[in-house]
Amino acid sequence: MATRRPSHCFFISPRFFKPGASDVPLHAPGLKNRGLNVAGELLSTLNHSNRPNAVLDQTRAPIYETLRSYIAGKTYPFHTPGHKAGRFAPPELVDLWGQPLFDYDLPAMTATDNLLHPTHCVQEAQELAAELFGAAATFYTGGGATTAIAAMILAAVPPGGTILLPRNVHRSVASALVLSGARPKFLQHDVLPQSGALSVTGETVAAALAEGPVSAVLLTRPSYYGLARELDDVVAACRQHNVPLLIDEAHGPHLNFLPPGSAPTSAMRSGASLAAQSCHKTLGSLVGTAQLHVGHNSPVSAAQVRDAFNLLQTTSPSYLQLVSMDVNRRFMASEGAALFAQAVADAAELAAQINALPGLRVLDPADDPRLAGHRRDPLRMVINVAGAGWTGYDAELLLRNEYQMEDELADWFNIALVLSPRDDADAKARLLAGLKQISANPRAPESSSIAEAGHLLQPAVPPLLMTPRDAALGPKQAVPLDESIGRVCAESIMFYPPGIPLLMPGEVVTGEILEVCHSLLAGGAHCYASDPTLGTVRVVGGA
Ligand SMILES: Cc1ncc(COP(=O)(O)O)c(C=O)c1O
Repeated sequence: MATRRPSHCFFISPRFFKPGASDVPLHAPGLKNRGLNVAGELLSTLNHSNRPNAVLDQTRAPIYETLRSYIAGKTYPFHTPGHKAGRFAPPELVDLWGQPLFDYDLPAMTATDNLLHPTHCVQEAQELAAELFGAAATFYTGGGATTAIAAMILAAVPPGGTILLPRNVHRSVASALVLSGARPKFLQHDVLPQSGALSVTGETVAAALAEGPVSAVLLTRPSYYGLARELDDVVAACRQHNVPLLIDEAHGPHLNFLPPGSAPTSAMRSGASLAAQSCHKTLGSLVGTAQLHVGHNSPVSAAQVRDAFNLLQTTSPSYLQLVSMDVNRRFMASEGAALFAQAVADAAELAAQINALPGLRVLDPADDPRLAGHRRDPLRMVINVAGAGWTGYDAELLLRNEYQMEDELADWFNIALVLSPRDDADAKARLLAGLKQISANPRAPESSSIAEAGHLLQPAVPPLLMTPRDAALGPKQAVPLDESIGRVCAESIMFYPPGIPLLMPGEVVTGEILEVCHSLLAGGAHCYASDPTLGTVRVVGGA
């Protein structure tokens, strides 16, 4: 029987490295032979840059294979989880999900390895992922890119250190700033009503780096609309200053597999230091799965990333998620390039059919000089319906109610679809039928005060008086919005649209921000804040 190691124990016990008496293959054949030298084991885990350029066996799926063998051994679980391989699970769940799901829902133990300090199958799976995605090291998580982003920032920016970043950051970045104590300095970039936030240019990053000491640069890429500039000049500027470049690539794990030139180059292939990817968004693994890559030549070491990650990771990761990432990596290694090449060709054909419909247009940087320098993800299909007088919201309703489909995003002008290599031909036919209906029924164009007013999309970034951490975690009080001018905000306030934070914790509420809040509320934009009606906002102060 395999020896179980409590997953919350961080001391190193020699028995942890001993295979149990079961037939579980702790050392997958064909992969690196692992000795019992604890220090050496940990060092090799952390110092991936010392690895020779070994070509790993991408046909292996070490986590899956290990669990499969373990389950075949029929070891009785006198341990957690309490469902006991389904025996104590609600019977209707076993009926619903099937016995294999409960069999594979194993805990961290000697036989299954440990995500926090992996030594066999999890380590091997992460090494395989690193090789496939062009990284020096890769860390898996079931906590989404949210966890990976927090780990990148904690690893790269000391408390009080400055991080350069654009305003179009996901809320997970705002949370990570609170966790880390970093001081944000925002980089200028444009926001277009029809295509969201554009990428920061290399000159902007270089100029900001020249201004003063900076601990890291973080960029969001590709945007929610699938747009991104190539990173070469940003990478060069960061290298010149020896500053790590962190990429929130939540929407881009598939970029690694797209034909070169057909899409933005992935962060790792571009030379970024760290990149956080939501595998679940555009690859085939389970919801919540994500990975954090450490680039070759990253000034932040894999050991630093591991330390930061382990502050955030659960000691009970879901092996269902880990297996799904492992097997999906194997799938992508063997078929990713071919499947995505076909998907890109299919998407181009679909785009041509949509563009042939009067009033409809698929977002293409070539159409708009303001998008010069950007590439688009061909599988993030942003369809502008405004030329037919429709709003994206109305198009979304039509497609949902009459054509049984759900998009990824709707805004005033567009609907955005996430395409994959395995979309149903029938669904694409229904999509075209729905879009034809829109095109054939043009409307008198409506105007939107919030969608078109540039100042609502890009108010001046308010002054930062405190770090987000000090503002969000210190004493605070709720005050009526109109009485908040001049106070330091203690929370993030974001409206959708445009989906870009208006206020971050630590920033002063300005008259302009107040006006924008009123206009967005009046225009029906959805507010994300402690009080979504903004009757009150949380500001620093009070007991
Ligand atoms: C740009 C961006 N970054 C990070 C995240 C967080 O990703 P996850 O949901 O995998 O935690 C999202 C989620 O939508 C996102 O859009």
